[in-house]
Amino acid sequence: MDSPFKQDALKGKVALITGGGSGIGFEISRQFGKHGASIAIMGRRQHVLDSAVSALTSLGIPATGFVGDVRKQEDARRVVESTFQHYGRIDILVNAAAGNFLASAEDLSSNGFRTVLDIDAVGTFTMCREALVYLKKGGPGRNSSSGGLILNISATLHYTASWYQVHVSAAKAAVDATTRNLALEWGTDYDIRVNGIAPGPIGDTPGMSKLVPDEIISKARDYMPLYKLGEKWDIAMASVYLASDAGKYINGTILPVDGGLWLSRPRHLPKDAVKQLSRVVEKKSRNTPVGVPKSKL
Ligand code: HXC
Repeated sequence: MDSPFKQDALKGKVALITGGGSGIGFEISRQFGKHGASIAIMGRRQHVLDSAVSALTSLGIPATGFVGDVRKQEDARRVVESTFQHYGRIDILVNAAAGNFLASAEDLSSNGFRTVLDIDAVGTFTMCREALVYLKKGGPGRNSSSGGLILNISATLHYTASWYQVHVSAAKAAVDATTRNLALEWGTDYDIRVNGIAPGPIGDTPGMSKLVPDEIISKARDYMPLYKLGEKWDIAMASVYLASDAGKYINGTILPVDGGLWLSRPRHLPKDAVKQLSRVVEKKSRNTPVGVPKSKL
């Protein structure tokens, strides 16, 4: 689908995207590039980075890849510094790297819980912390009045609760808390906007194929408000919006992009039955004198 945004919406910007070699992270990289940004992607697997970089460059997008694990502070520092050395500035950090698997709470080891917290929550904070010097107003490659942007990809599953996802819910809740707190501190001190995007079920991603079997999805459609899965494009367009000047006054927001799914619950009455029932109940209550005990009616 074509983008509704101007092709130069991110012209001159440099974006570092963790987990940018595949899934949602790659689509964000591609769309940022198509809107004028230069791209650095960070990931653990060299061959995934290589094919992502070659796909981006074949579209005419300046792109480079750096191997690294967001759980390792030295990797985070090296990749951030290498990005700066390569492009001379960093304007946008997207934290899209994440770990996930299904496990019931009673079968999950503390190390399994910790591993996902380490990737999603600690990894996000570490990347933000390492990038701070380059993103703050007056930092290397920046002028003294405008800071950069951080975009953290989380989820909606911790808004309520999710089966077999205690580790991921805890991790994403921590990511959202980090987003809001950094928005407060770094927005105030350094003019850095920090926002989040909370994707719902997005088709054709590693997360979906790992977590939600196809047969479950077709059943779930009965209670999905928009009755469809999202696309990676939806997340990328929300990212372009927040990263562009259109988002210049948006700070500390976590934007759910899930078609309203997190609000949904099973319909307890068919729509026609509501009309009938509601009229009957209204009539009854109008004809019932106030204060008359039920037993006397
Ligand atoms: C129970 C498991 C497990 C499983 C791992 N563990 N897989 N426990 N069920 N299926 C436990 C291990 O037993 C171990 O604990 C601990 O977790 C660490 O496992 P390792 O395999 O050593 O970790 P590692 O090799 O670092 O791999 C990390 C990973 C892996 C998270 C487990 O799946 C991964 O690297 N994933 C990255 C890619 C990915 O998942 N992308 C999808 C993101 S989608 P013990 O106690 O045995 O030592 C996404 C969507 C979120 O995030 C939103 C959802 C709606």
